[in-house]
Amino acid sequence: MNGLSSVINLLAYVAATIFVLGFLNKVVLYFKTPSPLKIATTPAPTNSVGVVLRLVPEVLFFRSLLRGGTAEKILWVGGWFFHVSFLLIILRHLRMFVYPVPGWIMSFQQIGIWAGLIFPIALLILIVRRFTNDRLAVISLFQDYFVLLLIIAIGLTGLLLKYFVRTNLVDVKSFILGLFSVSPAQVPASPLFLIHFSLVLILLVYFPFSKLMHAWGVLISPARAQADNPREVRNVAPWAQ
Ligand code: HEM
Repeated sequence: MNGLSSVINLLAYVAATIFVLGFLNKVVLYFKTPSPLKIATTPAPTNSVGVVLRLVPEVLFFRSLLRGGTAEKILWVGGWFFHVSFLLIILRHLRMFVYPVPGWIMSFQQIGIWAGLIFPIALLILIVRRFTNDRLAVISLFQDYFVLLLIIAIGLTGLLLKYFVRTNLVDVKSFILGLFSVSPAQVPASPLFLIHFSLVLILLVYFPFSKLMHAWGVLISPARAQADNPREVRNVAPWAQ
């Protein structure tokens, strides 16, 4: 194995470790954060079954955005198509990560290609929206643009790999399976693949420290995940007992 391969393999493990530990750290932190008051956005469910029923359509369809005005609906189009196409792209990518490839992964190949094409369009909507909405432009930070540009770059280098600068997928697979089985293998001899892969590593490292943690936060955000039961149950934060 050459020097470059050793470095990339090492960086992949470092990035994966930072992602997993960083994510778990935030999960624990969010759980430990006191929520002494009931602040569920009303009308809200009064028990936990109701909370689950409230969260499912929110997570699957971003329901609260659909109830908003034009600005929220534009965010819905960009956000929903981005997330769904992201999921389909990952499902399509699984063929490069497992051997043998099960039939259900193969059934996502065609729709995954379409998702790859929709992906940058959805991200473009999300980024243009920040420039064109005055209120949003004022509150947008560098980090908001950075993450959108990073993910666009991952999508576009992926499309280049697929349509213009093909790489050897057998080499890609042996590299990835080597990583998973902790027997590091040679990285594919493709600069574009290295760029695509390195951008993904940057995303992994950045994820736990960024607003991308909304992926977990949405499930436990007090305004949406609390039961509205202050009349039935006395709510005492653990530290106040
Ligand atoms: C955030 C995660 C990732 C995103 C959003 C992403 C996105 C994309 C997109 C949109 C394509 C073009 C359409 C397609 O062939 O599916 C693509 C292709 C590709 N991606 Fe990724 N990718 C990600 C992670 C990875 C990883 C971890 C690898 C490492 C194996 C990888 C390797 C490739 C390869 C080799 C291609 C070309 C596939 C082909 O020629 O058919 N990608 N990627």
